[in-house]
Amino acid sequence: MELPFAESWKIKMIEPIRKSTRNEREKWLKEADYNVFKLKAEQVYIDLLTDSGTGAMSDRQWAAMMIGDESYAGATSFFKMKDAINQITGFEYVLPTHQGRAAENVLFSCLVNEGDYVPGNSHFDTTKGHIESRKAFAIDCTIDEARNTQLELPFKGNVDIAKLEKVLSEHNEKIPFVIVTITNNTAGGQPVSMQNLREVHKLAKQYNKPVLFDSARFAENAYFIKIREKGYENKTIKEICREMFTYADGMTMSAKKDAIVNMGGFIATNIEDWYERAKVKGIVFEGYITYGGMNGRDMNALAVGLDENTEFENLETRIKQVEYLAARLDEFDIPYQRPAGGHAIFIDAPKVLTQVAKEEFPAQTLTVELYLEAGIRGCEIGYILADRDPVTRENRFEGNDFLRLAIPRRTYTNNHIDVIAVALKNVFDRRNSITRGVAIEWEAELMRHFTVKLKRL
Ligand code: F0G
Repeated sequence: MELPFAESWKIKMIEPIRKSTRNEREKWLKEADYNVFKLKAEQVYIDLLTDSGTGAMSDRQWAAMMIGDESYAGATSFFKMKDAINQITGFEYVLPTHQGRAAENVLFSCLVNEGDYVPGNSHFDTTKGHIESRKAFAIDCTIDEARNTQLELPFKGNVDIAKLEKVLSEHNEKIPFVIVTITNNTAGGQPVSMQNLREVHKLAKQYNKPVLFDSARFAENAYFIKIREKGYENKTIKEICREMFTYADGMTMSAKKDAIVNMGGFIATNIEDWYERAKVKGIVFEGYITYGGMNGRDMNALAVGLDENTEFENLETRIKQVEYLAARLDEFDIPYQRPAGGHAIFIDAPKVLTQVAKEEFPAQTLTVELYLEAGIRGCEIGYILADRDPVTRENRFEGNDFLRLAIPRRTYTNNHIDVIAVALKNVFDRRNSITRGVAIEWEAELMRHFTVKLKRL
């Protein structure tokens, strides 16, 4: 008999988690204005809010933490991190930042001006925020098929080359760069194929535009290329990463995802001019150029994490767990963005809560229901997160409305995954009794989902 699949690691340190009662959760969620960001973490049993900064570090990472160099300038930790980034990406210039959005802030401060257009696949909310707050426009050129959650495509995160070409030709003078987010988080943690990266790069070069990768989950993207794209099955993840980054001029990175640290990020590029300009902004916003908001110990852990998480076994363990959750949901016919994403399952909330009007935010309603059911905290990646149109100030209902169940790396076991699946089934079974959603009582102008106050209708 063939041996079943199992994790490529064992557990050395644990952290207790606690269940709660439905009555407690009703009270806590009301106090949190039905916004799960405002819950206390101890009020959560299984936390799927994000896979960002919530992964479990390895013994090698913790060992590296102990020999962090906390020198203000020129720390050995910086050079270890820089070497790891050089080797994996091929980018020469590295500027640390405290997390991904800080990398966006520093770099976009140099590159994005009022009235600019920044095309790409789906921009993550902070990326969009850093574009729109500069009065520029983020143009989503993701393939249309990504919207249809029931369509099984291997690379649903791809850029639609024709859409991109239209933007490039219409707004040529106003485009500072093309951005490709790997994996495409907003479209469901869906990968971008090597072929698509190659085509985007070629087209951008025809229009003389640089290409930037938002690389938060680039290693997961490389795993999918190895598994799904012809010609890559025998290549190592590190070889695939090197090729991927030849199709970019630079990257912003939230190291809290695929570098498996709790905090950290960076900009890396081969464009010296970008680096020289970003250095100045980096010093103002983040700190000196060899630490940029990071501790020496964290830079050490980042270097090790990048190396470990560009190894096949680690990625396989991680992504197979996400696929295991998908398989459990299939048993119950619960609709999600197919195929399973790299870091999360995205439940297609309007297909579950068919009676809840879009104006009453089905995905947020489902997020509320799942928490009340079992103390599981997911996250709305939908109409609330989409913010209002900067010009019309109308809600944006044209995208998908997902409840995202993000799986932290190396943190939960498949027993937890079973609890998640059954909790969702229980909500699913009573879906027709859920007819009303939530209404916004207060919201911020930008990135409202973090702080929004809601009421249940
Ligand atoms: N880009 C992508 C694709 C992201 O998913 C995130 C963060 C960022 C940039 C910003 O990085 O958080 O380090 O400042 N995503 C998290 C999430 C928050 O839950 O998906 P950050």
